[in-house]
Amino acid sequence: MSIRAYEIYTDGACSGNPGPGGWAAVIMEGDQATEISGYEEKTTNQRMELKAAVEALRFIPSGSKVRLSSDSAYLINCFNQKWIDRWQRNGWLTGKGQPVENQDLWLELMELAHKNTVEWIKVKGHSSDRINQRCDHLARAEIISANKEEADENKKLKTRGFKDEAGISEKPHPESGCKINNGTLEKQETVFPRIGLLTGGGDCPGLNAVIRAVVKGATYNYNYEVVGFNSGFRGLVENDAGLIDDFAVSGILNRGGTILGTSNRDNPFNFRPSGESDYRETENDRSGDAIDNLKKWGINCLIVIGGDGSLLLAHRFSELGVPVIGIPKTIDNDLPATDVTFGFDSAVTTATEAIDKIHTTAESHHRIMVVEVMGRHSGWIALQAGMAGGGDIILIPEIPFEFEYIVDKIMERNSRGKKFSIIVVAEGAYPAGEEPLYQAKGQVKRLGGISSVIAREIEKRTEMESRATVLGHLQRGGSPTSYDRVLATRFGVKAVELFRDKKYNEMVCLRGHNIESVPLEKAVAGTKRVDPSSEQVRAAIAVGTCFGHPL
Ligand code: F6P
Repeated sequence: MSIRAYEIYTDGACSGNPGPGGWAAVIMEGDQATEISGYEEKTTNQRMELKAAVEALRFIPSGSKVRLSSDSAYLINCFNQKWIDRWQRNGWLTGKGQPVENQDLWLELMELAHKNTVEWIKVKGHSSDRINQRCDHLARAEIISANKEEADENKKLKTRGFKDEAGISEKPHPESGCKINNGTLEKQETVFPRIGLLTGGGDCPGLNAVIRAVVKGATYNYNYEVVGFNSGFRGLVENDAGLIDDFAVSGILNRGGTILGTSNRDNPFNFRPSGESDYRETENDRSGDAIDNLKKWGINCLIVIGGDGSLLLAHRFSELGVPVIGIPKTIDNDLPATDVTFGFDSAVTTATEAIDKIHTTAESHHRIMVVEVMGRHSGWIALQAGMAGGGDIILIPEIPFEFEYIVDKIMERNSRGKKFSIIVVAEGAYPAGEEPLYQAKGQVKRLGGISSVIAREIEKRTEMESRATVLGHLQRGGSPTSYDRVLATRFGVKAVELFRDKKYNEMVCLRGHNIESVPLEKAVAGTKRVDPSSEQVRAAIAVGTCFGHPL
């Protein structure tokens, strides 16, 4: 008969020392995982570390080969350095003559270890091994769920079963296990509430910060699990997904982009066939596949991090009965139900730095420099960066411009000895009576190029040398500003709290200084645009900024 081999991972946790404590172990036989965990009312951290190892060894049959990983020096050193043998010889007194604590467990541990070939492995700290982290979560969850209120809350989450149209019901995830209660082994399904997470639409700085906040918020505080879908809604349709633990989100707070990947071309209700690079109208409704995949993963709620397009899709899924929570992101800052979206501040910072640089070369060459920033229907980036960078002329979609006012402003500056001017234009800005300028005529309308049109026209009308610079996707890349990191973190944590409170079909938002939430349908209704009569526009005019229009 071949010897059975096990890998055991253990951890203990204590809230106060002594205080309520939890212990947990993950026992692997090949790729088969069993999780066990338990709780003691008034205990110590050392006892919990020890208890986890004892219970794990009790779980496996005698004569097995065992490798045990723990981050506890107490457990590993005492065992490896043969202190236990010494204690036994000394009548269970330490070197200082004190009685050894947890003698009952040490004795049992020795007895169990003798029945097996045990190899001890020390891991360095909680974050160095994914499965040890898992034990850490489980042990801490035992303490949390011992609190009556939390226990009830968790029970409700585990058993509620969504009786909805989509039929997403409570489902045990693929791992199941056993639990030891008061010394007896009970077979039970391990069910942790699961959150699905995806980033959709154009990327922006701060997406990784919000992913990190959702994962850490979910696992540290509530023992929820997070399943990440790759490449936005495409991953949901094609079931390209995996569990994300806090190890996976470590070190990403300051990183641009999204570790999950994104797409602004994939609509499950009108799905682009694989291999096609661009969006086109199809009859291909794959929303059913998306919902099946949510069920397969046992997901209780889908968190969508997105702009107007992705949140609209999230809303459509909510209408089909999928519990959904939205988190707003976009550099354009054009979502109506939140004061600010994360990504905006970073894009504005990038654009402002660019305008500052353009300024010096404009001044040296006595040129008119036109800087084109993003903003399809809203001129928030142009207004904010234009003001911060001292733009002389700011052109936004909300205020269709006329060339004669732009030329007047340039000539007026000229007459004051200012031989250069900076124009900041949103990609969606357009001359009065005309249409915004699209690069290509196809299924996807892509804005861009208005800066070159303006530069040419100005050169013609003023005979001053003019240049156009399109900042483009530079504004979506790079590290988020501290403001965006904090806003994204607050949004992520709030989204998990909404899940905890079962407040679905809501979008988190910023109102003044507070993080709140609004119904998704409100969040996707319309576009937040710059009000030409707002205090901010008036302030810009007051310092001499021209908007290409006699406001
Ligand atoms: O929604 C943000 C945005 O940056 C718009 O301002 C811009 O028009 C658009 O995305 C460009 O997206 P892409 O080039 O990825 O299609």
